[in-house]
Amino acid sequence: MPGKLTVLEGVTIAEAITAKWEQIWNFQARDGDVLIDTYPKSGTTWMQEIVDLILHDGDEQICRRAPTFERMPFIELLHLMKPGIEVVNAMPSPRVLKSHLAVHLVPPSFWEHNCKVIYVARNAKDTATSYYHFDQTVQFHPDPVSWEDYLEQFMKGDVGWGSWYDHVKGFWEQKDKRNVLYIFFEDMKKTPQQVIRKVAKFLGKDLSEDLLNKIVKLSSFEHMRDNPMANNSGFPKEILDQSKIVFMRKGAVGDWKTMFTARQKEVFEDHYKRQMESSTLKFQDPK
Ligand code: A3P
Repeated sequence: MPGKLTVLEGVTIAEAITAKWEQIWNFQARDGDVLIDTYPKSGTTWMQEIVDLILHDGDEQICRRAPTFERMPFIELLHLMKPGIEVVNAMPSPRVLKSHLAVHLVPPSFWEHNCKVIYVARNAKDTATSYYHFDQTVQFHPDPVSWEDYLEQFMKGDVGWGSWYDHVKGFWEQKDKRNVLYIFFEDMKKTPQQVIRKVAKFLGKDLSEDLLNKIVKLSSFEHMRDNPMANNSGFPKEILDQSKIVFMRKGAVGDWKTMFTARQKEVFEDHYKRQMESSTLKFQDPK
């Protein structure tokens, strides 16, 4: 049965998450933990792979020790899947954790411990396109009825984890006040070397040229797609049913053009302007 959404502190979010909100909000981060936070479909899994490779000096075998969701647990889904809160609490420091929570919903212990937070943002049209396909697999979200309706819901922030606009702006506004590295998906595609260097520096690692190139290769779309420990194919079916759409779909910039009609583009861009005009946050909008 498809899941339901509700609203928590102004954010539309799955009932499956709010059902355990107290536990999630009280998650105990520790000194040295790293949090990768994103709006869904912005390159989270890609950044997780990059971070794991950086922290393990590009050791491919170590980075294949377990699927992404076990290596870098998803904090708001720990009650629904492995590894579970007890295992995560017992994981040695420093841990790398994943979340899609909006900045004001991030468990306060991350800020109290001044944990490093890597935020990845992707342009709105490609995010909506990717999310429409992905939401056909997410079992704890409602099934998208049509692309047309889904796009309207996305614009209203009426999809899981809420408004894209509020999410990307929320972290942008906090980035200089907190320990947040703000990265763009489009830069990861265009200049992966530069982005990986920046992430490594943020994590206190200096990469040789050889190691950097190795990490670029191991975290490429093709490499991750063919790596069962990095392509999310092992995600429990009760949570992600990938029988029709696989997680590693296209990994492209500008894929929105395969979905948006000329009219949808016009309406979306007009709405976008109004949502984003008060912010200094600027995206590379793939034409
Ligand atoms: P598409 O649906 O457009 O293909 P997240 O991990 O936040 O859910 O993001 C998933 C999106 O990132 C998917 O986009 C997926 O294909 C893309 N992705 C994952 N790994 C990638 C990589 N190494 N290079 C490029 N895109 C990648």
